[in-house]
Amino acid sequence: MKITVVGAGAVGATTADNIARKELASELVILDIKEGFAEGKAQDIQQTAALLGFDTRITGTTGDYSKTAGSSVVVITSGIPRKPGMTREELIGTNAGIVKGVAENILKHSPEAIIVVISNPMDTMTYLALQSTGLPKNRIIGMGGTLDSARFKYQLSQTLGCSAGDLNAVVVGGHGDTTMIPLIRMATWNSVPVTNFLSKEQQDKIVADTMVGGATLTKLLGTSAWYAPGAAGAAVVEAIVRDEKKLFTACVYLDGEYGQKDICMGVPVVVGKNGWEKIVEFNLNDEEKAAFSKSADAVRNMNEVLKSL
Ligand code: 2OP
Repeated sequence: MKITVVGAGAVGATTADNIARKELASELVILDIKEGFAEGKAQDIQQTAALLGFDTRITGTTGDYSKTAGSSVVVITSGIPRKPGMTREELIGTNAGIVKGVAENILKHSPEAIIVVISNPMDTMTYLALQSTGLPKNRIIGMGGTLDSARFKYQLSQTLGCSAGDLNAVVVGGHGDTTMIPLIRMATWNSVPVTNFLSKEQQDKIVADTMVGGATLTKLLGTSAWYAPGAAGAAVVEAIVRDEKKLFTACVYLDGEYGQKDICMGVPVVVGKNGWEKIVEFNLNDEEKAAFSKSADAVRNMNEVLKSL
């Protein structure tokens, strides 16, 4: 099994590090356009092998896509990250051209690859990758909802004082500060609704803090986060390569599901060896349905910008 991570920045390197530690591949390639950078990251991660006990062979390359040939899964993290005060959407002008070029190059050398998109704005970049490669829809997955759901569980665990691993909670919709929808009504603490334990004010705060989870970190760090995005990217890759049939929220192409067509956005999907294999329809109430449709409008507006670039 060969996996490629495109982009050796903080998110790409952390994704690669997690993939190596979990031994998801025998061969891992990191590609970046900055001279020597991917080679350096590859060597640094490889030097942890003796300490952490993994056997994945890691190589780095400066822009040579032939080195990525035959990859089963490719993670695209390329593009610029956001700076404090910036929205993910403001990155579109720069990142669209980068992601399109990367997706096309990847496909030339790995025609069977499943592509996991991390670049922002996630929903539009996933849509763009699908349009520009013409791949079957199940082979393009944006990981935004997986990350947002982890952040939702973080917020819940902090307030409830419980283990994040005991929580079941999902965020659907777009991967944007105003477009994501943490479904608190459906969140449970080992099967018991979390709403049993939280006041309305606490619930509202958890939802609001989840939605600006990325922006909060960007402000603190001066650039966008990488540990949770990298772990979320690797979790999606793991579900694919181990054929786990995990239920993740991921950004996928909708063709009528959740009342939406011709758009990529976050919904619950089963992830396994074929990429995303099935969309699971949650029974949204009227308020959640309205939020989902508003989120879709915002994502669609962003997709429209692609046409003017
Ligand atoms: C985040 O939310 C990078 O979009 C990513 O941190």
